[in-house]
Amino acid sequence: MTESATDPVHADGPARPTVGVAVIGYSFMGKAHSNAWRNVAAFYPDVPRAVQRVLVGRDPDGVREAADRYGWQESATDWRAVLERDDVQVVDICTPGHLHAEIAEAALAAGKHVLLEKPLANTVAEAEALVAAARAASARGVQSMVGFNYRRVPALALARELIAAGRLGEVREVRAAYLQDWLVDASAPMAWRLRKEEAGSGALGDLGSHVVDQLQFLLDDTITWASGHLRTFVPTRPGASGPEDVTVDDAAWATLGTSRGAVASLEVSRMAHGRKNGLALEVFGSQGSLSFQLEALNELVVDTGAGGTRILVTESDHPYLDAWWPPGHVLGWDDTFVNQAADLLSCIGEGRAPSPSFADGAAVQRVLAAIEASAAQSGTCVTVEAGPKASTPPVPVPAAAPAVSLEPRP
Ligand SMILES: NC(=O)c1ccc[n+]([C@@H]2O[C@H](COP(=O)([O-])OP(=O)(O)OC[C@H]3O[C@@H](n4cnc5c(N)ncnc54)[C@H](O)[C@@H]3O)[C@@H](O)[C@H]2O)c1
Repeated sequence: MTESATDPVHADGPARPTVGVAVIGYSFMGKAHSNAWRNVAAFYPDVPRAVQRVLVGRDPDGVREAADRYGWQESATDWRAVLERDDVQVVDICTPGHLHAEIAEAALAAGKHVLLEKPLANTVAEAEALVAAARAASARGVQSMVGFNYRRVPALALARELIAAGRLGEVREVRAAYLQDWLVDASAPMAWRLRKEEAGSGALGDLGSHVVDQLQFLLDDTITWASGHLRTFVPTRPGASGPEDVTVDDAAWATLGTSRGAVASLEVSRMAHGRKNGLALEVFGSQGSLSFQLEALNELVVDTGAGGTRILVTESDHPYLDAWWPPGHVLGWDDTFVNQAADLLSCIGEGRAPSPSFADGAAVQRVLAAIEASAAQSGTCVTVEAGPKASTPPVPVPAAAPAVSLEPRP
């Protein structure tokens, strides 16, 4: 069932349809997405109202307790049974990567709109199967989107607009680093993120997928070649029954080239001592530059010749901000997921294809595969496999059109 209905319990007027949501997975992303579904109706009154129908996990007590805490009507342990429910229209998948393709394909086949956490899949083959499933579903009015939530950071959405408006001139160079340190301790235990069969890759797929998507989003360009290196600094970690081999990378580096001739450096690590969630982006063009740090996500520094302007991206005419607080009342990392939910609901309500699409997610997967292929050949330059053109329309913003002014505000 794909149509939304007006919920007699939650309806706040005949014009606001409701959309029943199920989230699969209730740990880190399950919590962040639950928070988004719980709050999106309050901040975005013009999109269909999300109703938190059911939270899904494997441990019945754990998922029941989480469902209660995060505001869900019910909990369940069998995601397949949830796909058969008529009161669920959106399935939001927050599980490890090896389950993405199976659950998403089944959900789309069952007529459910799908929000799928990044990276889209663990392999290019899985990603392509998902693109085909999404295309078939789209012909039936069923929407799908990948959870690259950093597209919903207002400062990065504004950066994309500034670049598109030519404020930096021709973009030539980008520096992109996404550094964390939660694996720096060699005695940190094994986890699914360290097993190739579950995670696909390590820091590359986990953090590098965000970086690659952000590069293609910011520049509205396609990465066409890659030269990469991967390292696993701690090859064995304590497992449940003794030492276990780590089968993914701890860190990755790449030089990437785009179809319009820009060159980007990518650096990702989960062992960068002191960096907690440090996504840093710098874009250099022929007439200006901009820089961004995720740990100061309300700020964008733009330099078009006079020494740099720090923009506090909290004005109501900045992307997404019309839905939020008065200027200077800053947003947090969790709010990007609210913006993401609003974008998806807006598209569902209007029958539009959301962005980033599964094709966009597959385009990221091809770049990751090229980096891995290059690393396997000691960094030889590898051409990124061409796929069907990924469509990345401007991120739909339900609020008023955002401004790109760099002038000081009164
Ligand atoms: N957008 C972001 O910034 C961001 C951040 C972290 C993780 N992620 C992505 O989110 C996804 C999940 O990561 P996480 O950090 O939440 O992992 P996690 O380990 O914290 O949670 C995974 C959840 O999946 C559940 N699960 C596993 N197998 C299941 C099954 N068969 N049926 C039902 N539930 C099952 C687990 O019980 C757990 O609740 C991954 O794809 C990851 O790459 C995205």
